[in-house]
Formats: sequence, C-alpha cells, structure tokens
Amino acid sequence: MNSINRWAWAEVDLGAIKANVDVLVKKAGRAQIWATVKANGYGHGAVEVARAALSAGAGGLCVALADEAHQLRQAKILAPILIVSEQPEIAFEQMLRDEVVATLYNETTINKYSAVAERLGVVGKVHLKVDTGMHRVGVPVADAMARVEQINAIDSLQLDGIYTHFATADLPSHDATAMQQRRFDELVAELDRKKLRPKHVHTSNSAALLRNLTATTDIVRVGIAIYGIAPSNETEDVAGRLRPAMSLQARVSHVQHLAAGEGVSYGLRKKLERSANIATLPLGYADGVPRRLWSVGGEVLIGGKRCPIIGVVTMDQLMVDCGDAEIKIGDHAVLIGSQGNETISANEIANRLETIGYEIVCGIGARVPRVYVENKA
Ligand SMILES: Cc1ncc(COP(=O)(O)O)c(C=O)c1O
Repeated sequence: MNSINRWAWAEVDLGAIKANVDVLVKKAGRAQIWATVKANGYGHGAVEVARAALSAGAGGLCVALADEAHQLRQAKILAPILIVSEQPEIAFEQMLRDEVVATLYNETTINKYSAVAERLGVVGKVHLKVDTGMHRVGVPVADAMARVEQINAIDSLQLDGIYTHFATADLPSHDATAMQQRRFDELVAELDRKKLRPKHVHTSNSAALLRNLTATTDIVRVGIAIYGIAPSNETEDVAGRLRPAMSLQARVSHVQHLAAGEGVSYGLRKKLERSANIATLPLGYADGVPRRLWSVGGEVLIGGKRCPIIGVVTMDQLMVDCGDAEIKIGDHAVLIGSQGNETISANEIANRLETIGYEIVCGIGARVPRVYVENKA
C-alpha cells in the first residue's frame, strides 16, 4: 500500500469481476450481458470494471447519466453504452457525439432528441423504456405503440430496442414480476404482429438472471451480481457462486488503553464496561461508513476477530473495541471483506442498517483510494 497517502483504501479485485461476469454470461445463455457500471461502477470504479466486464464477455454497458457514458468514451471504451433514463436536453449533443444508446419515453423528449440528431446529421440509437408496473420512468404500456410509431417515423432516430425494468425481481415470492412480464410480453406480441419488433427486447436485472427469468430477454442489464453481491437476502442462495469484488480496509492509526467507565467519541454515548484496548481507524462517514453503524452492532475485523465499533462514527475516523487484544499502530483492519476465517459482507452491514448492499458499496466515498488487484479464484 505504499502508493497511497492514506491508511484506508478499497481493494477491488478485477479477477472477481471477470469471474462473476463469466458465470453470468454462461447463465444468460443466448442473451447478452450488458454490465451496469453507473455510480462509478457501484463504487468499484466505472472504467476499470467496464474494461474487466467487456474482457470477460459482456456485450455492452449501462449507465445512469450522460456524463457517465462520456467518461467511458473518454477512456476509449467503444462498446455499446445504454443510458437507462432520459437526460436533460443540454446533454443531447454530447450523447449523440458519444454514440450512446439513449433511453427515451416521452413524446416531447423524442422530438427534441431527434432534432439535435438531425442538426448533427447523425442517426441516434434509441431504446424505448416501457413502464409495466414499477412506476419510476417509462412510457405506460397503453401508449408504448404510439411511441414506437413516433420513433419509427423519424429519420434521425433508430429504434434499436424496447425494454422494461422489474420492481420486485429480488423478491421471489412477490407476484408483480410475473404481472410485469405478462404486460411486456403482450406488447412485444403486438409489435411482432405489426412487424415492428426492434433488434433488442429486454427486461432483466441481476435478480431476474439469478432466478432464471430470462427466457424472453436478449440483454441482461446486470449490475450488482457482477460485483459479487446478492441483490437481496431472498436471492442470497442463487448468488452463491459469485465472489465479492470489493473489500474496505484500513490500518490502525492510534491505540489507547482506556479504563472502565470512560466514554468514546462525540457525545460519549458509549461507556466502557471494562478496561479495553481501543483502536482508531482513519475512516468515517465522509468515506461512506454510516455514522450510526456503531449503534446497530457494526463490527470491524482486526487480528482475524470481530471487534465492535464503539461510539459514533465521526467524519474521518472511528473507534473499535479490541478488548484485551494487543494491537499496535499500523495493524490491518477490514470493514468489508475477509480476514482470517471471518468475513463481513456488504449485505451484512446493509442488514444491520435496514438497507441493501447496493447502498453500502455505492456509498464508499470518492476520497477512499481504489486499489486494483487481480486475484485468481
Ligand atoms: C434500468 C436498470 N437496469 C438494470 C439495473 C441493474 O440492476 P441490478 O444491479 O439489480 O442488476 C438497474 C439498476 O438499478 C437499472 O436501473
């Protein structure tokens, strides 16, 4: 770790990303994997993950923002990039110059986007997003055919795909996924009848792929699974072959031996019941370790053992109760990942905080250096 000026870092194993993509490519069968690398590759590093995923067989990439697509193009990544929702008009020229695949669904946005394409003298690729029940973005199913016909009538646009997004694929017992699939299938059947089916027709995210709900999709927009994290507790069993790619690590930056009765951190809300060795780690809520993690049983691995976080997590530092264990400055600590026989997963932390693993890894702050390694299985 000599190359970073900080005793805290996120190690990202690109070997794990490649191994996960390989597993998912095989699972997807005839469907392509388009790796979702929005939000800086779910905190792992968009460019590095994109390159690793493409080298392992992904056919394209998905991002949330025009600038995320631009970052990939600036890194000379030439694969198809789908931006998964409509963008502000100011971004249209950049999107068209970057030759991204735009997601569109509103009548006026389609007209405005096509006008910019016409002015630039290019043909913009479009995927129409259909809202089959999640009710976030997309054209309602009832209006989808009109939007297809609108796009098809515009010379500066090419309808390259049509898709929907599931709201409950990570909840196997929920019946909404089947309902969304049925609505989408009916629309696709109508497109087939009218001979309007575009090249790509897709529905699935990681959870849908892991649950084998991909019979009618020809792209899987797979995100969380390539990072080796199960989409939910309910899909933990089917995600078993995936390897977590990120671990969050630090070195002990200060050691204290405190007597029983002493309080620790802002508010001195936690008083020691017995004397203990307390390690300070230089990671805080500004790095994405939630302030309240101490109060929900949050732990850190030091010396291969689980040690509780004691007192509130501060902006840049947190304290850990190491009990009687001898610790010294520079000792290695793991907040997410494995040490010895112990492992703390992103989903373990998420469960404590009543959230999802996605939020934990996306939340690792920009000032935490990412260190890339390529481990073998
Ligand atoms: C439209 C769309 N497709 C695919 C994904 C990837 O989802 P997941 O990370 O669950 O695979 C997302 C992520 O939120 C998304 O918004």
